[in-house]
Amino acid sequence: MAITTFQGNKTDVRARRIRFGIPAALQLAETHITSIANNKGGVGKSQLVVQLAAALGRFGLRVLVCDLDPQANTTRRLGIEYDPNAPIVTMSEVIKSGERGVGQGAVIPCGWVDAAGNPTAEAENIDLIPSRFDLINRETEAGQVGAVRRLKRALEGWTDEYDVVLIDTPPSLGHLVQMAFAVADTVLIPFDPTYDAVEAAIRLRDFVQVHAEDLANPGLHVGGVVATRYKRSLEAEEQVAGAREHFGDLFLDPTRIVKETGMEDLLIPRWIPEWVRLTEADSAAVSLSAWSDRQSRRTVALYDSVAAEYITKVIGEAA
Ligand SMILES: Nc1ncnc2c1ncn2[C@@H]1O[C@H](COP(=O)(O)OP(=O)(O)O)[C@@H](O)[C@H]1O
Ligand SMILES: [Mg+2]
Repeated sequence: MAITTFQGNKTDVRARRIRFGIPAALQLAETHITSIANNKGGVGKSQLVVQLAAALGRFGLRVLVCDLDPQANTTRRLGIEYDPNAPIVTMSEVIKSGERGVGQGAVIPCGWVDAAGNPTAEAENIDLIPSRFDLINRETEAGQVGAVRRLKRALEGWTDEYDVVLIDTPPSLGHLVQMAFAVADTVLIPFDPTYDAVEAAIRLRDFVQVHAEDLANPGLHVGGVVATRYKRSLEAEEQVAGAREHFGDLFLDPTRIVKETGMEDLLIPRWIPEWVRLTEADSAAVSLSAWSDRQSRRTVALYDSVAAEYITKVIGEAA
């Protein structure tokens, strides 16, 4: 079976689930909310949010992406171009209001379309609360008492229809990130294999442990870490080995061999490598499954495997 072109039907979803070792009849009892965070920039947070959302969509899960980064990379990569002549409601207005349930009014569908201009099968499973540069203004207001719970209130009462909510965050530990932490069940930390990123990941885990109660979210915990942008070198190898030792079971390991009929097996490494096709997908604002050559099928299988690790380790749904 070729694994790229996602049809979106039940047979396809089932086959993918079985192939990647997650329960074929998987149904989440509760919406799981994850903040993707690392206070170091450029580690691949937004790519992880976008392509993990796509992969979860391929597994038939309904995903809401919340873009809490004023840079709005995730919003653009999900196919939404902000047009000043036709303004849309964004996270900035949602946070400003902070009223119960107000986020629902800002939800838009993922903008990925096929050649005929119709939403792709993945896009049908993904919704978005978009971001815009002026979200940065909310950062300064967010010092007010109770402001840390604005996102939590905005998401209250209507997100049950989603299996997973993924919140992308800016590279800091400031007020916007804390708003994300106040509503999340888990934090997922991507890190590139450099000393600074691994140290940032460790500091972030400490931050979560120390401040979960202050954020009125005592159950918050780091649910996983994942190595990104891996380029083979002794330094990278040592940094990943160190992180693996430090984080133990929290380390997401997508390693697997994916078989394709009549083709060479696709080998998936234990990290997200630095691959040109991944940068290209970010630039082109498309899902990896927009291409079907062998290297692209490998990137799709990689993210499917990361999503399977996310489902089993971070959400905790065992096969
Ligand atoms: N695994 C990867 N392989 C190749 N390029 C990557 C990879 N991860 C991220 N990039 C690129 O690196 C840059 C930063 O990634 P991004 O997802 O924006 O990180 P962050 O959100 O942490 O700042 C982007 O240009 C992105 O396309
Ligand atoms: Mg980003």
